[in-house]
Amino acid sequence: MSIESLKSLFRPELEELSAYRVPPAPPAVKLDANESPFSLPPDARARLASAMHATEIHRYPDGRASELRKTLAWGLGGSEDEYVLGSGSDELIALLATAMSTPRAGADRPVVVFPEPTFVMYGMTSRAHGWEPVGVPLDGEWNLDAEAMAAAIERTEPNLVYYATPNNPTGNCFSRETIESLVDRFPDTLHVIDEAYGAYSGQSFATLCEERPQCALLGTLSKVGFAGMRIGWVRLDEALSVELEKVRQPFNLNTASQVVATLALTDLAPLLEEHITTIVAERERVSAELGRHAALECFPSDANFVLVRYTGDVPELCSALLGRQIAVRQFSHADPRLRSCIRITIGTPEENQRLIEALGDILG
Ligand SMILES: Cc1ncc(COP(=O)(O)O)c(C=O)c1O
Repeated sequence: MSIESLKSLFRPELEELSAYRVPPAPPAVKLDANESPFSLPPDARARLASAMHATEIHRYPDGRASELRKTLAWGLGGSEDEYVLGSGSDELIALLATAMSTPRAGADRPVVVFPEPTFVMYGMTSRAHGWEPVGVPLDGEWNLDAEAMAAAIERTEPNLVYYATPNNPTGNCFSRETIESLVDRFPDTLHVIDEAYGAYSGQSFATLCEERPQCALLGTLSKVGFAGMRIGWVRLDEALSVELEKVRQPFNLNTASQVVATLALTDLAPLLEEHITTIVAERERVSAELGRHAALECFPSDANFVLVRYTGDVPELCSALLGRQIAVRQFSHADPRLRSCIRITIGTPEENQRLIEALGDILG
């Protein structure tokens, strides 16, 4: 069989997609991926090491991740059975696309609606699973356009609607009233509220989800210090989580991730809170400093990053920063409104100072 005939067996949707790529050699100051900039101090590492020492890694992981589910329910509310766990929340986005893919009566494909610009994986994952993605432009202040969202949901009858709040890459929280009114108006769609950056906004939709089965909450530890461990979850009504569990690989969350996540949510929680407080204070400092440059406009942020509009040549600015060992995120292929923007993750105070000085140098 030729390579061409083998390639013809791949889903046609993959033709339009490219694999998610990350730069191979990170520079000294890495402000491009919305990670926490803080590595764990020695005592926290020792705590993790001793917890790992007690594990039996020649055995498969606990397929139910019982300890971690208990901890999530204790810390974030709800019952253990409402949580479905994944290797990062990316995996939960894929599991939802796999499990909830029955098209509406008369439609040939299931539909997912999300505001744009937003987290790219909602669109990429749904495409790769044969869904029809429907993006609804955010308004001029990066807020939800309530009427356009309602019209798109009414017209396309999506199986899923995603709202990342705070939103990536714009950084702002969406209006609670708008989300609540869409959730109430369209009870036959699953509304997934992605709180990946919720720790930095201090806002949560947990109570809304407790009262409404058409609402799910997506969470992750990636943005608060554990990106390398790949730990995410979705909390949804038990009648739905039972179905989602059926498509989850039984050992998707490895033993080390389960141990680390449980500690992160218990013993290490005060340390994470300290880091979050520092990042929120630094976010305000960085925004104020960058705002001094006439060529830069910082959009208000509730997350651990800021979106900045630049009146000059964005690729040139990014390579000048990279020349000083500072990586930030640019958006060459995305929403045209983003082409004049860069996204800067908030680093440690020292890293932020390097960024501020480098921009001072470059922009004068
Ligand atoms: C809004 C949003 N949701 C989910 C994710 C994925 O996070 P995870 O590392 O848990 O897969 C990201 C990562 O950038 C994100 O920005």
